[in-house]
This record gives sequence, C-alpha cells and structure tokens, in this order.
Amino acid sequence: MKSETIKKDFPVFAHHPDLVYLDSAATALKPRTVIEQEREYLEEYPANISRGLYTLSERATFEYERSREAVALWIGALKKEEIIFTKGTTESLNLLAYSLERSTTKDDEILVTTMDHHANFLPWQALAERAGATFRALPVSRSGEIDLETLETSVSARTKIFAFPWISNVSGTIAPVQDIVSVVRKRSPEAIIILDAAQAAAHLPIDVSTLGVDFLAFSAHKCFGPTGVGVLWGRSALLEALPPFLYGGDMVESASVEKSFFKRPPQRFEAGTPNISGVIAFRAAIEYIEHLGKESIRAHESHLVEVAREKLRTEIEGVELLGSSHPTKHSNLVSFTIPGLHAHDAAEWLANKNICVRAGAHCTHPFHTSLGIPATIRFSFSIYNYESDINRALVSLKEAIEYYRLAKKGEKEKQRDL
Ligand SMILES: Cc1ncc(COP(=O)(O)O)c(C=O)c1O
Repeated sequence: MKSETIKKDFPVFAHHPDLVYLDSAATALKPRTVIEQEREYLEEYPANISRGLYTLSERATFEYERSREAVALWIGALKKEEIIFTKGTTESLNLLAYSLERSTTKDDEILVTTMDHHANFLPWQALAERAGATFRALPVSRSGEIDLETLETSVSARTKIFAFPWISNVSGTIAPVQDIVSVVRKRSPEAIIILDAAQAAAHLPIDVSTLGVDFLAFSAHKCFGPTGVGVLWGRSALLEALPPFLYGGDMVESASVEKSFFKRPPQRFEAGTPNISGVIAFRAAIEYIEHLGKESIRAHESHLVEVAREKLRTEIEGVELLGSSHPTKHSNLVSFTIPGLHAHDAAEWLANKNICVRAGAHCTHPFHTSLGIPATIRFSFSIYNYESDINRALVSLKEAIEYYRLAKKGEKEKQRDL
C-alpha cells in the first residue's frame, strides 16, 4: 500500500502536509469520496426521508435505504431490516440497554469485561441498577485477553446479558469471538450476547452469520465515514420482540390516545430525522474499504504495529507495551507507558510537532484501574500511515523524555539549594 498515493485520497493532508495522524482509533480521516457523497446529498436532494412524495425526498429515501443494504451486505446480515442506523456505537448500545429493560429482572445477571469501553460498560451497569439485576465485570489478562476457563466459571444460567469488545481500544487485542460465544452458550444457552465492534469494523472482515453473537454495534466515523452515524445489527427475531427506545415521528403504524402501534424493525428504532447525509455518505466509506480490501488494510496496519512495538521496545528505556505481542492477536494500535513521562505531557509535546496521538484512560477507567496505570499513550494506525510517521513520533518522544528528565533534575537541584 503506497502511503503517498493513499494520502491523496484524504483532503486533510492537502491542508496539513506535515500532519502525522496516529489517532485513527478515535476517528478515522475522511476520504474525498465520502465528502463528495455527503456534499451531493446536501446540494442535490437535501430532503427528508420516508415522508415526501416529491422527487427529492424519494431520491433521499432511496439513497438512505441503499446504504442500509450496503451495510447488510458488508457484515453478512440476512436482510437489510436487521440494520438499525443510530448516532454511533454509544447510542446503539444504549438503545439496546433501554429496550432490554422490560425483560430484565432482579434475578438476572449482566456480565461485561473490565476492558470494555465505557460505552459498553455504563449502559449495562445503569440497566442493572434500574432493573435490580446483578452487574459484574469479567477480569481480563494484562494483555487484554479473556481467559476462557475464567469465562466458563463466571457465566451461569442467570447470565442474561454478556457484552464484550471484539478489539479493546486500549490493548488492541483481538478477541476470539466464536470461542467466547461457544463458552457462554454452553453455560447459558439463552444469554443475549452483544459484541462491541467499534474498533473492529474497519479492520476485520465481519460476518454476523458465523460470529454467533445476537447484536453487534459499530460507528461509521471509525470506518472513514461521517460522525453521527452508527449501526446496530440484531437478529431479526430478537429485534421484532424488542420495544422502541426513542419515540417520535416515523416509527408508528398508528397513534391514538387509547393505544399506539409501532412499525416493525428497523423503523421502530429510528424515530425522528436521522443523519441522512451521514448515512448516505457512509456507503462511500464502505466502498472505499472494499476497494482497498480488508486483508490489505490489515496487513498494512499490522506491519506498522509490529514496527512500532519493536522500535518502542528497543529505543525507549523502560517502556511498557500493553496488548498482545503476537502479530495475529493485535489490531492497528499500540498503547504504552514511559517511566518519568506522563502520557498527557507526551501527547502535548507531540501535538506541538503536528503529531496526533491519544493519551489518557481512553474511556476505560476499570481497565486502567485493573492495570494499575492511570494513563497510557496510544498510537493507532490506518492506511495513510507509514513507517516515517513512527520515526517522527519516536524522535519527538525522545525529546520529550529528555526535556522532562532535565526539568525534574533542575527541580530537584533547586529544592536542594533552598
Ligand atoms: C471499543 C469502543 N467501543 C465504543 C466506542 C464508542 O464509540 P462512539 O464514540 O463512536 O459511540 C469506542 C470509541 O472509541 C470504542 O473504542
């Protein structure tokens, strides 16, 4: 994959030729085709969907539904009605947690993992509180792996919901989804299994017909698509049985004072005006990924992670690398700590050199607490990155280490002189 050719697809690099963007796990940059598709809607047929009988609205509805078909095909869904458009992974998971409330009781247990992003942790904790159910988090290894034996002893017939991440946004470790599902099903055949695919969708092939989970959520913006668009996929039979989460326009068959009747999925879950331009443009993002091929994307990113891990390990004294060191188990990111250099100081130093990285607890407080680390620095790669980006980031990191070392030394000497 030639980075200079790829970079031409992303207009941001024309505006910032010096940019080193190592934060694609937060959000991916947007290719021109996505921007163009969004612009086309806004300029040529900016009407609402499903309501108007005039041409502009019919075209908007047609393009919006085409995106639903494209997503269904992309992830191996049986039919497009299994695809619900939301604002993002966070809304997809909250939708589910609210819709499952009526069927959750105090006898049930909800299980997540300690490495889940808050978006797949807090909605389930809140649901447990509302329903009086038990909430537990499965401990994971330091490298972000779920131990199947621990999982087996943690799941019981009481386990009503099990939610876990396909790829942790901190460790970058890829979970063996099918193995995990079969352990959960063995112990609790009726459990509802929810997969947070926010960090996986742009990098791994998805086939919901073989994964074995019941629901899957991800965001378009991490897949080169616009912000404000998410997907919730669910098995038809389960979606049909769920009540709505948001109530409003375009989701009822009929409304009256006595009783209202709701549409079938997906409309039942898409009340109000959605992000029409975003959903339409998301199709261009999917086409872009398919054009490059997920295998090539993964090979490119995996190579960069290998290089970054090796350089960090050999060039930065005392660095602690999180995640699995096994190439088949890590995704497109590497998180780490450096003794004597706070993650935020590092990120700020790099930002001043036009290098964008993420630092902090990455919306995973329970995971950081379990690791005993308050904050980590994260490099996350995409197709527009190259080894030269890693080299530049490392040069800057070394400068930051030296600067803070000298600053601390100076401070100590000042204290001694007092
Ligand atoms: C693993 C994981 N889950 C959920 C989310 C939430 O995604 P969004 O903010 O797009 O709703 C993120 C975002 O970083 C994530 O990394």
